[in-house]
Amino acid sequence: MSDPISTRYGGAGPEGLLPLTPVMELMLRHRSVRRYQDRPLPEGLLEALVACGQSAATSSNMQAVSLVAVTDPARRQRFAKASSGQAFVAEAPVILCFVLDQSRAERVGAATGADLWALPLVDNFIAAATDAAILAQNILLAAQSAGLGGCYIGNLRNDPEFVARELALPPRAMVLFGMALGYEAPPETGIRPRLPQSVVLHREHYSTEGEAEALAAYDTVFAAHELAQGRPKDTWTARHKARYANVEYLDGRINLRAILKRMGFPLE
Ligand SMILES: Cc1cc2nc3c(=O)[nH]c(=O)nc-3n(C[C@H](O)[C@H](O)[C@H](O)COP(=O)(O)O)c2cc1C
Repeated sequence: MSDPISTRYGGAGPEGLLPLTPVMELMLRHRSVRRYQDRPLPEGLLEALVACGQSAATSSNMQAVSLVAVTDPARRQRFAKASSGQAFVAEAPVILCFVLDQSRAERVGAATGADLWALPLVDNFIAAATDAAILAQNILLAAQSAGLGGCYIGNLRNDPEFVARELALPPRAMVLFGMALGYEAPPETGIRPRLPQSVVLHREHYSTEGEAEALAAYDTVFAAHELAQGRPKDTWTARHKARYANVEYLDGRINLRAILKRMGFPLE
């Protein structure tokens, strides 16, 4: 197998690194999987994955995250439709929904008679969202170590109130993103190259020196990868227009602030 670090950077990674541990090798081989076999997860695996997820660090141990595992085919179909029609959402045997959950804190506050006035502060929303992301990535890595593939589903935020209704979420709970999990169906998807370390890793202070040249080089590597995967020969910098200058791409998420307020997150 080719050097996993070099592959991660499309053949242009840093050289002379220390030997990699098996965990590092697994991380470096990460790929988002969007084709799944019609094969359920083995009994007991989901619970093991969740234990790995919950083993992640959590802000002040508040653990403001809940999970809803969706396997019902009809619900997966509805979620596929709600997340910009992405077919893999219906195909994966399980969709894990990562819930930013402040409803539990609210119940604890009510039970203990405490006025949890700081709960709605934006800082606590950021803390819970951070926790959810760390927990989720622990789950994905554990799943990958068990031979599964997965893909995050940010598009579940297109219509958070629909998703909340589907999952019977209480107020102050919202799905930040989903994760499809299952066994990959061929053809195997490739490893998507990342930005050169020269533009990501700064030493002592932030610097944009050499950034334009490094991004141009990355555009070439990225476009070649996309073409090899049978996708349009897009450059990474060109994609910024599609991502940040395109209201259609947002597919409803432009209204998120008002929606969050209705769902019990005033973000004060
Ligand atoms: C929070 C989050 C949400 C994502 N949402 C989607 C999604 O809705 N649909 C999708 O196909 N990929 C989604 N992805 C996967 C990214 O597109 C993917 O990680 C990125 O293009 C890099 O490719 P790789 O994971 O194969 O290395 C998401 C990733 C993250 C971290």
